[in-house]
Amino acid sequence: MEVKVVSGDITKLSLGAIIVNLFEGVKSPGGATGAVDRALGGAIAQLIAEGEIKGKLNEITLIHSLGKIEPARVVVAGLGKEKDLDLRRIRGVAAEACRFLRKAGVERVGTIAHGAGTGGIDSEKAVQAVAEGTILGLYTFRKHQTKESEQGEIKEMLIVEQDESKLPQMERGCAKGIVLAEATNLARDMANEPANYMTPTDMAEVARKVAQDYGLECQVMEQEEMEQLSMGALLGVAQGSRQPPKFIILSYKGDKRSKSALGFIGKGITFDSGGISIKPSEGMEEMKGDMAGGATVIAAMRAIGQLRPKINVTGVIPATENLPSGTALKPGDILRAANGKSIEIVSTDAEGRLILADALSYARKLGLSPVIDVATLTGACRIALGDFCSGAFGNNEELIVKVIKAGEEAGECMWQMPMYEEYKELNKSDVADIKNVGKRWGGAISAAQFLAEFAEDTPWVHLDIAGTSHSDKDKAFLVKGATGVGVRTLVNLALTLAKK
Ligand code: BES
Ligand code: ZN
Ligand code: ZN
Repeated sequence: MEVKVVSGDITKLSLGAIIVNLFEGVKSPGGATGAVDRALGGAIAQLIAEGEIKGKLNEITLIHSLGKIEPARVVVAGLGKEKDLDLRRIRGVAAEACRFLRKAGVERVGTIAHGAGTGGIDSEKAVQAVAEGTILGLYTFRKHQTKESEQGEIKEMLIVEQDESKLPQMERGCAKGIVLAEATNLARDMANEPANYMTPTDMAEVARKVAQDYGLECQVMEQEEMEQLSMGALLGVAQGSRQPPKFIILSYKGDKRSKSALGFIGKGITFDSGGISIKPSEGMEEMKGDMAGGATVIAAMRAIGQLRPKINVTGVIPATENLPSGTALKPGDILRAANGKSIEIVSTDAEGRLILADALSYARKLGLSPVIDVATLTGACRIALGDFCSGAFGNNEELIVKVIKAGEEAGECMWQMPMYEEYKELNKSDVADIKNVGKRWGGAISAAQFLAEFAEDTPWVHLDIAGTSHSDKDKAFLVKGATGVGVRTLVNLALTLAKK
């Protein structure tokens, strides 16, 4: 699908449909919606007067223009109350309206940039949000379905602006929105793939391709090199599987004069059965998505390679399966992590923190700072925050605030979780330096405290996306399945930390 900004009069374009908008409680529409209303002979105002259009958030009303204007249909999308309008709502409205029109079989759509006019939102950002909402909301994953979809396909989306002087900034916003949304959809594609199509080897292949296409360096370490680096924690998880583990490193050099680099780490468990501490079979298929954090990092690196900010960024993705077998890790085993710390295994299902431990030590060895990890780490985080907010943990208040802010801009909500010393006690082992499971209660925090032992004094933030990496329905800019959460947050963060 193509999304672009064009200048002109939206009522004169021969399109299948156009999307205009209305704030809740407005009786006579102004701006671009007002102009369309006048061209329709007051049809929109009349439907408002009759109470059919209220402008409630995500309300969709279809009007057939019956020859009064060039576009065949007009969708009036509700924006909710004017004071509550933000970029997240704009993305959501764009997505809902597009899915509606796709169902109606429309192929060519025009829209006004919601919020940019009467809404008072910066037009570059508003257009970016519309482009993102369109591409994210229309995402489908049909690769393994042999029958063609019964739904239509929107092939073109024009963001129409009358005022030519606004075009340059709108085009910038559109281009950025396309990059960010397409990267998010790459992360979704990877996490939606079943584990037999997205093995650690497959992840490494995607990373290599991304590096080749977007000017990044890619290094993939094999098991032998991991052994040389004494990555006993990662290798312990990998030892139950026949799929060879991969340790993927992607680097972007946007600031050749600087030696420092921002680090991203993504959990790449391509299937989490729990290992010997096996999970209940109900819902286990969902664990094909346990590499969502790794996919997020690969996809964010791609977007960074396209946007080319003045900063160095390195993405690290430890990738392996977690399976039970005769060679698998067992509860009670003790592993030696790359930084020399010994770990008592209480549950082989707490494998994410093991592979991240070695990735964190490796990031420290590379001198990456600050470091952000993204991981579907704990069911406890999902229970605490549901599927709307990711959990944010860390050892540096200033950095946590920056990450949460980068997320806000992206419409990816995060909630800071406490890291009191007292939670650290939970990971104390009688037989090793640390154990991989604390208590059930506060499980997301003790998991983060475990990681903190390996982040040591590097400024670090951990994002637990166990609840947010998957959506159970189409909702605003999310569609059922993998969400690609974190991609736009990481890219926003890199852009804010970059030299201007
Ligand atoms: N991958 C899971 C966490 C998870 C759960 C992600 C639900 C997405 C949805 C993780 O490896 C895991 O199994 N964690 C255990 C830890 C426990 C054994 C301490 C959990 O949360 O139950
Ligand atoms: Zn697990
Ligand atoms: Zn897991």
